[in-house]
Amino acid sequence: MATPFIITLDGPAGVGKSTLAKRLADHFEIAYLDTGAMFRATAWKLGEGSWDWDIDKIEAALKELTFTLTGSGSESVLSLNGVALTNDIRTETVGMWASNFAQIPVVRAYQKIAQRKIGETTSLIAEGRDMGTVIFPQAPCKFFLDAALEERARRRYEQLEEMGKPADIKELIEQIRTRDDKDRNRKEAPLKPADDGIIVDTTNLDIDSVFDRLVAEVKKISA
Ligand code: C5P
Repeated sequence: MATPFIITLDGPAGVGKSTLAKRLADHFEIAYLDTGAMFRATAWKLGEGSWDWDIDKIEAALKELTFTLTGSGSESVLSLNGVALTNDIRTETVGMWASNFAQIPVVRAYQKIAQRKIGETTSLIAEGRDMGTVIFPQAPCKFFLDAALEERARRRYEQLEEMGKPADIKELIEQIRTRDDKDRNRKEAPLKPADDGIIVDTTNLDIDSVFDRLVAEVKKISA
């Protein structure tokens, strides 16, 4: 079997990673792995406050969780214990729960095993915070997207509206700021670009321009 081809896409909340990852996955006809959804689903399944449980209890709960990825492109389906994830995990509140879990080394260790296992057999666009630095550092194409906080909050606001989950923009700005600070400053696998990653500031770019730029970079690297 040929070695799976992996493209990593990291960056802070609301930068547009999911939209771009899905488009890239369709374009290159490979699967899309949303690792933020894995942290969200873990937090959602274990419930509010479970990040404060003692480590043995957290580890026992993690052993009961199995993630699978099926399908391809934007139709890729991530499931937890055989059940496809839904938009219930997409609120900013669950994002914050996920961020609390993401600080815990044993949680990251489990996620790392699950994510690498998926990448062993499947070509992927892997989206998250530490895809290029920790999970798939050997990937030939590693991108880090960034954008100004207010712009990211605006994009997240629109995304939540589309899902029928209206939010308050000022509150969103504060929530995203808090979550980013946590993700950037945590000890383990902090949010940062890979040393050999390509950084794209998307603040003043529309989604089509960013998409075209990423496609051109992938083609250049894999030529
Ligand atoms: O990308 P998303 O907003 O769904 O991620 C939710 C949270 O999961 C992030 O704020 C971060 O704390 C955590 N996460 C992570 N590493 C990843 C993906 C997400 O720590 N690879």
